[in-house]
Amino acid sequence: MYTTRWIAPSNIAIVKYWGKFDHQIPANPSLSFTLTHSYTDTKLIVIEGKTTQGDDPTVEVYYDGIPKPEFQPKILKFLKAILHEYPWIMGKLLKIETKNTFPHSSGIASSASGMAALACCIEDLHTTHFAPQSFRWHKASESARLGSGSACRSVYGGFVQWGLSSDGEGSDLYATPVQQVHPDFKTIYDFILILDSGEKSVSSTVGHSLMKGHPFASRRFEQGKENVIRLKEILKTGNWSSFIELMESEALTLHAMMMTSTPPFILMKPKTLEAIQKIWQFRQTTNLPVGFTLDAGANLHLIFATNALEAVEQKLLPELQYLCEQNLIIKDLIGRGPYKVDS
Ligand code: PMV
Repeated sequence: MYTTRWIAPSNIAIVKYWGKFDHQIPANPSLSFTLTHSYTDTKLIVIEGKTTQGDDPTVEVYYDGIPKPEFQPKILKFLKAILHEYPWIMGKLLKIETKNTFPHSSGIASSASGMAALACCIEDLHTTHFAPQSFRWHKASESARLGSGSACRSVYGGFVQWGLSSDGEGSDLYATPVQQVHPDFKTIYDFILILDSGEKSVSSTVGHSLMKGHPFASRRFEQGKENVIRLKEILKTGNWSSFIELMESEALTLHAMMMTSTPPFILMKPKTLEAIQKIWQFRQTTNLPVGFTLDAGANLHLIFATNALEAVEQKLLPELQYLCEQNLIIKDLIGRGPYKVDS
């Protein structure tokens, strides 16, 4: 029996990944930062299976101690996708005990942190017991990608790129950390406004597939490529106002792609627009570096710099809180990425 336990945080994309080719190859590079408090904690126990060598693995999944057979198909599909790298998984029983620090459907990508945590557990057991060598972060990222695209970025802390960009940096197969980050971007906050915790009407999987044959797809993919280059320059020089302009344009473009898909869909809610108006008003009157981004959902990510923290807490949050379900705002910030904990 082999056991390990990893914590992996979720991430929020500034330049969005929306549209992919076969084998989880992104249509354009994306760039995110990894969070601190919104994470998945996963313990993996590998037991010699009763089945003969060469058989598929079997899995048992527990979420917060409760058996979750409905999670098995996605995890089995993931394990089959990484078997070539980790052939010892064959015929084993994998017991997965997992939990998140954030609520389901909160607008925080649980697939990103969940797949990153599991990929780190598997890479750890591989390099400790089955093929002793040092932990290969890029392999953990590559596996995580096969579970959920955006998960590959959660394998690193700080700002992270996934996808080859025109400056020759990055890879479509795994994520890489962004090296040059100005001190003004070393700390960056993400306060997540829970405006709607209902199930999304359209999943990311369907959303990605609707980019095939989308009338604006090729221009959008070009824009994503340009924006990754622009964003890296912004991160290097520390220009917060350009950062906010690019970030908000990316968020609204993502949702514009949804609205112009066939069939069209809208994931924003009236409260999302109301919150955006309040953030814009606040920025206009205070001139502080505060903006927003959106994932594939209605909840808004309030993104800001350290020098805005006090004013956000004291003046902006009271204006936004009443829009949130049960006044819920998840307060997070950039973090260091996954780490192993005592199992
Ligand atoms: O990783 P997926 O397949 O759930 O897609 C994520 C897509 C967005 O969250 C909308 C954007 C991104 O780059 O994270």
